[in-house]
Amino acid sequence: MTTGSQALRAAFPAARPRRLRAGATMRRMVRETRLSPDQLILPMFAVPGRGVEAPIAALAGHSHLSPDLLAARAARAFDDGVPAVLLFGVSEHKDALGSGGHDPDGAVQRAVAAVKDARPEMVVITDVCLCAYTDHGHCGVVVDDAVDNDLTLDVLARVALSHAEAGADVVAPSDMMDGRVGAIRAALDGDGHSGVAIMSYAAKYASAFYGPFREAAGSAPGFGDRRGYQMDPANVREALREVALDVGEGADMVMVKPAATYLDVIRAVRDTTSLPLAAYHVSGEYAMLMAAAERGWLDERRAALETLTGIVRAGADLVITYHAERAARWLREEEA
Ligand code: PBG
Repeated sequence: MTTGSQALRAAFPAARPRRLRAGATMRRMVRETRLSPDQLILPMFAVPGRGVEAPIAALAGHSHLSPDLLAARAARAFDDGVPAVLLFGVSEHKDALGSGGHDPDGAVQRAVAAVKDARPEMVVITDVCLCAYTDHGHCGVVVDDAVDNDLTLDVLARVALSHAEAGADVVAPSDMMDGRVGAIRAALDGDGHSGVAIMSYAAKYASAFYGPFREAAGSAPGFGDRRGYQMDPANVREALREVALDVGEGADMVMVKPAATYLDVIRAVRDTTSLPLAAYHVSGEYAMLMAAAERGWLDERRAALETLTGIVRAGADLVITYHAERAARWLREEEA
């Protein structure tokens, strides 16, 4: 019988993992996780008008863009290798029912059409939610100070339909109402849009990391918080249940959100579903990294690529990231 330290001595110096780290070419050969621009999805914020570009302070490098400028920037991203955008609408027109969300002339509907016009092959995904369109900022219809699940489903379905009519390839419901995937699928199929896919924000947590986004979308809740519909950050089994329900209702892809603080959730979902899995590296995660980079405390490029690699290593097929454009360029440079 050999003791632990004898075994160690016998293995060494035969076992020298450093041999495979000796040069860049070798490291490239034995790399287990490969990040590709094909996996990146760029979030963008559409506002009404023409020629509008208003930088978003908390999201360095990102702006509110009118449909014309949004389409031009999306086209550049596509030409740089980013295959898809995720579009959010920002609206001044807010009411109790979030009816601005299904305005056929809304900023997001126009932006969808403009991107498809500029780059027909680019995949256009739209966020389906009411929070940017309700006067109370909640993701659904409020009755007696609580979000009413079933009343919200009809409105969400109308929003998804308006996006499909504008030309969206994929709709992505982010509201976290029960049954929304089924309701949206039925509405799309009933109206001749059976080819439009659904990427569900299946496991979306009530996170502190959405702060910069809510500022950008003007969608912070006017009272209370979102814990009555978004998930408790402490739960992972519940995420698997949410994913299973959405898959059962017809989701084509599922998402975990946020990403970097939820790598175990990404792994658990990866191991239990065969559908493509997206992870959303959200506004607060991006802002944290960018703030540190701006102070010179982190190297943006290395920290961003390491973060994205970690998310993919955990099991994500796709990453929604505010770094998408730069990451696509960095990855191309590394290839060269
Ligand atoms: C809308 C929505 C939010 C995000 C995506 N869709 C905000 C929220 O739920 O409050 C957050 C995205 C980000 O932080 O980048 N419901």
